[in-house]
Amino acid sequence: QSNKYMFKHKGTYFAQNTTTAEYIDSLEDFEIRDSDVFVVTYPKSGTVWSQNILSLIYHEGHRDGTENINLIHRVPWLEYNLRNVDYVNRPSPRLFATHLPYNLVPRDLRNRRGKVIYVARNPKDVVVSYFHFSNLVVSLEKVPDFNSFLEKFLAGKASPGSWLDHIGGWFTHRDDFNILFLTFEEMKNDLRGAVLKICKFLGKQLTGKELDTVVEMASFDNMKRDARANYENMPESVLERGKGHFLRKGTIGDWKNTMTVAQSERFDSVFKGKMKELPFQFIWD
Ligand code: PPS
Repeated sequence: QSNKYMFKHKGTYFAQNTTTAEYIDSLEDFEIRDSDVFVVTYPKSGTVWSQNILSLIYHEGHRDGTENINLIHRVPWLEYNLRNVDYVNRPSPRLFATHLPYNLVPRDLRNRRGKVIYVARNPKDVVVSYFHFSNLVVSLEKVPDFNSFLEKFLAGKASPGSWLDHIGGWFTHRDDFNILFLTFEEMKNDLRGAVLKICKFLGKQLTGKELDTVVEMASFDNMKRDARANYENMPESVLERGKGHFLRKGTIGDWKNTMTVAQSERFDSVFKGKMKELPFQFIWD
């Protein structure tokens, strides 16, 4: 089930050469502090956007020396410790991002220590965004066309695995966590409202001016210009910039420009019935 791009561990696919099964297992015992905050997503659901919002809420308002640090190092990946940073001794507040399923995160998190912000996005937009992304990222498997990627996604074979299992697992086990659910769509439709929700969840009080700054700096256009936040600083060995941008469109409903009616119906036939079994409402259109 593993290949040159991914390996499978405990039912989850991970990128090769950036983490190991032993490291993933060690996260079970990673001690969580009450002040830790995790952005949890299935890929392409608004991770970088949320990482940036968190970073802006915690650091940017008062410019405490983080201005020249790339976002990915301000809010690093839990399962991909790209620079071998000492996460254990990192000063509080520690901010992390992860695509891990609920059952592979540190045990303390599952016992309501620390905070989790789970961001979900219409899976049709996710699959389209993911298709473009896989052409951009050197380490991801290349597919000949969108349909091939769609089938891979529907089969649960895009890392970390099935979209439905990811959100379903987190949502069904939500009472184990200190967790806030947000959608990409609500962030897009009312960013200020979403930032306020996040602040309330985190117990952070920003002044009106600080809030304005966060909202402004987290807009798509500003992030697109901010090389620290849009991955344009990534080396060519990671992102093939000539092939597109990480901040691609940032819209709701782009799937309609990509999927044929047949592909959309195929998607519905696999997903919609199963989604009805889950307790969450989702924005489809
Ligand atoms: S990853 O690789 O999992 O970290 O990707 P992720 O950050 O989750 O998702 C990337 C998509 O999010 C869009 N994005 C934004 N949309 C609106 N506003 C802002 N500020 C923003 N920042 C990132 C990004 O453009 C990708 O979506 P698509 O549809 O491909 O444009």
